[in-house]
Amino acid sequence: MITLEDVKNNEEVHALVQGAQKQLNSLGYTEHSIRHVSIVSKRAGDILEELGYPKERVELARIAGYLHDIGNCINRKDHAHSGAIIAYNILKDMGMSVADRTEIMMAIGNHDEETGTAVSDISAALILADKSDVHRDRVVNQNIRYV
Ligand SMILES: [Fe+2]
Ligand SMILES: [Fe+2]
Repeated sequence: MITLEDVKNNEEVHALVQGAQKQLNSLGYTEHSIRHVSIVSKRAGDILEELGYPKERVELARIAGYLHDIGNCINRKDHAHSGAIIAYNILKDMGMSVADRTEIMMAIGNHDEETGTAVSDISAALILADKSDVHRDRVVNQNIRYV
């Protein structure tokens, strides 16, 4: 079984998360992607764990959380959809079963409220975890003047 640890240690995942961060920096976000996706990953898993889901399902939620914003390495717009496809392909290369990687793709592809909604247990946990991370550093600060 592919674990969150395997995903975190994957070179491709690392490069794409860095690429996403680079684009967010240019757009004026001071957010650190790794901080955000680590929190979302943990909380998405914790939600299902608290509800008594099997540990395999909890692990899938943690992986979905870690990968959910990876589409920002292409473009912030539609990042849920592009990220879902990227995640699917990486997990396929890593040897994850088609059923599991489809679940993760579906959850990532629906995490943005503009185009998606809770379509599964993992999807619902991901949306809640993502929403729960309201960090002041995530605000775009282009209107702040330093005197
Ligand atoms: Fe997102
Ligand atoms: Fe997010």
